[in-house]
Amino acid sequence: PPDISLTNMQAHLQSLQDTATSNGGNRRAGSAGYTASTTYVENKLKAAGYTVTRQRCTTCTYPSDNLIADYPGGDAAKTYMFGAHLDSVSAGPGINDNGSGSVALLENALALAAAKPTMDGHVRFAWWTDEEQGLNGSKYYVNQLTSTQKSQLKAYYNFDMIASKNGGYFINHVTSAAAAPMKAYWDSLNLQPEENTEGAGRSDDYSFEQAGIATSGYAMGASARKTSAQASKWGGTANAAYDSCYHSACDSYPSNINTTGLDRSADGIAYTIWKQAVGTSTPTN
Ligand code: PHE
Ligand code: CA
Ligand code: ZN
Ligand code: ZN
Ligand code: ZN
Repeated sequence: PPDISLTNMQAHLQSLQDTATSNGGNRRAGSAGYTASTTYVENKLKAAGYTVTRQRCTTCTYPSDNLIADYPGGDAAKTYMFGAHLDSVSAGPGINDNGSGSVALLENALALAAAKPTMDGHVRFAWWTDEEQGLNGSKYYVNQLTSTQKSQLKAYYNFDMIASKNGGYFINHVTSAAAAPMKAYWDSLNLQPEENTEGAGRSDDYSFEQAGIATSGYAMGASARKTSAQASKWGGTANAAYDSCYHSACDSYPSNINTTGLDRSADGIAYTIWKQAVGTSTPTN
């Protein structure tokens, strides 16, 4: 798998920060800052050769678009989806929550298009709207799938807050078959990942889980506090929040991004894409 570029992800985060700054300080679903964020991601994908589908979420609290991009090729009966919400809360620019997941996915989509591997399975990327109002963009997407389309989804991987400054290494459904490649990559870095208990039922993977689709993903934590055992194994500050700027104006770039964590997640996503849909893989970082 390719080594996903931290430098490129940082440039995307700076653009999302600029987008919030020039649009009232946030990228909330339905706002000008959100629309500009979708245009930014869409244009980068188009320049790499992707066809991008805008799906209007009409049932959302703030009607606005999900972005869907399929990498051409591979067996549609073995489809793997990778998603992140692109909207922020109105309190701030939403850089860790969830510029982090959004740019890790974007850079993975661009790296896949550049590598042009022969595909075994099929890969689809999604950027969700209106997550902050109740997982509404992803719910809308899942609800419009036919039962055949649902059965073709072998796994959905979610990325929400993957660069928390005082974060930990959390995996959704860590012992599941779907999580195995995500865990294998972090195990190769000796990160000793734990179950994402804080995030259970709280992000877009839950929309898929409720439809019976296997789900996993990475997270580094939100407002819950790091335990002393976790600080011992991962470093950071015990008894402090994983992200002290959660849903606040200070969730901004560059101050609220853990670059080491972001790069470890992004490289693990590439490892998982290759493992699940390309076929053979060895860890890189
Ligand atoms: N889904 C939450 C949000 O976007 C983030 C979160 C993730 C909270 C994981 C807790 C655990 O605000
Ligand atoms: Ca990297
Ligand atoms: Zn949030
Ligand atoms: Zn979030
Ligand atoms: Zn679950």
